[in-house]
Amino acid sequence: MNPVETASPLTERINRIGFSATLAAANEADSMKAAGIDLADFGAGEPHFATPEHIKQAGVAAIKNDQTKYTPVGGVKELRDAIRTRHAQDFGSNYAVEETAASTGGKQALFNAIQVLMAHGDEAIIPVPFWVSFKDIVRYAGGECVFVDTEEADGFAMTPPMIERAITSRTRVIILNSPSNPSGAVTSPEDLERIVELAHRRGIYVISDECYVYLNYSGRVFSVGSLNRCREHMIIIGSLSKTYSMTGWRLGYALGPKPIISAMQKLQGQSTGNPNTISQMAAIAALSSSQQCVADMRADYIQLRDHMLRGLQQIPGIACHRPEGAFYLYPNVSAFFGRGGVNSSEDVARRLLHDARVVSVAGEGFGTREHIRLSYATSVDVIDKGIQRMAEFFGRL
Ligand SMILES: Cc1ncc(COP(=O)(O)O)c(C=O)c1O
Repeated sequence: MNPVETASPLTERINRIGFSATLAAANEADSMKAAGIDLADFGAGEPHFATPEHIKQAGVAAIKNDQTKYTPVGGVKELRDAIRTRHAQDFGSNYAVEETAASTGGKQALFNAIQVLMAHGDEAIIPVPFWVSFKDIVRYAGGECVFVDTEEADGFAMTPPMIERAITSRTRVIILNSPSNPSGAVTSPEDLERIVELAHRRGIYVISDECYVYLNYSGRVFSVGSLNRCREHMIIIGSLSKTYSMTGWRLGYALGPKPIISAMQKLQGQSTGNPNTISQMAAIAALSSSQQCVADMRADYIQLRDHMLRGLQQIPGIACHRPEGAFYLYPNVSAFFGRGGVNSSEDVARRLLHDARVVSVAGEGFGTREHIRLSYATSVDVIDKGIQRMAEFFGRL
């Protein structure tokens, strides 16, 4: 065989990572919907609300006013000011404009942070269950993931001893995500503070993914960005996607030490450049005007969570903790393993889709084998329809 013909055109680097499990699930559901199949869709990781009107209007105005050109890589100064001011007002942080950079979604900020901080052989501590992209972004940087199990009985919250036990001489980064996707777990401010402090003492960087920070129902909204004394070793990743129902606008940000933020912008400047200019203008409106829309959406999520949880808990065999944040339920479905040809959460998700026309995401992609993720960012009607279909499906298994 000719080695030239058989050699892969792809680098070892790109082969280290996989396609996003959540996007793959969404694609299959989309094709079924396009074929006219009525699905109860709990798969999407995005709000069901429209983007609030005043934010949309700011985007329209930006187009009409010809604010449609390149901007500085990390966003216009007005936006960076709006980001840091909002954060300071809500969490008592104290970041300067040069310590603030906007990006194309929180995902890009996270990608940039990990690429500039991690080298080959460095370790990143990642609590399980984790958001799908953490591990692939770390691997793309050449880093190694050190997964730390949390306890389902404690609502999957991470604790300082769990993190401390996982630290080695190669630990470079600890990734925090509270509230968490997929579990909705909220780690207490006290525990977050202890984790940040133990990292700071050892010179380990904390990357705190706070994309769901405003969707915290515990009554104790908290950002580790308020821990000024540890700022040298902290990068806060934020996003407008979930907070303002702006997933498609692609606007996120990072707050952190100037040399790191500057390196992240260097990388961004050599890849995508500035985040979309129209979205930047809409983001200024979102961050600088009344936050009532955020409070209203939060109140609705709490009702949706309680409604769906009540329904789910009535299905015999399903065990589900009550999440304190984000918009996901993460039920344990392992009681059904061994029944009707179902042996994993992937089997459950596949059968739910094809037999019950319910979209969920298997826990495997998030690092646990016994759960499925259900997003309750949808209407009460869809929740009711889905619960009924799931009750019938699991009852038959
Ligand atoms: C935990 C977490 N981090 C980051 C992101 C990225 O969000 P975006 O790039 O839309 O800001 C998501 C999106 O689902 C997420 O769930």
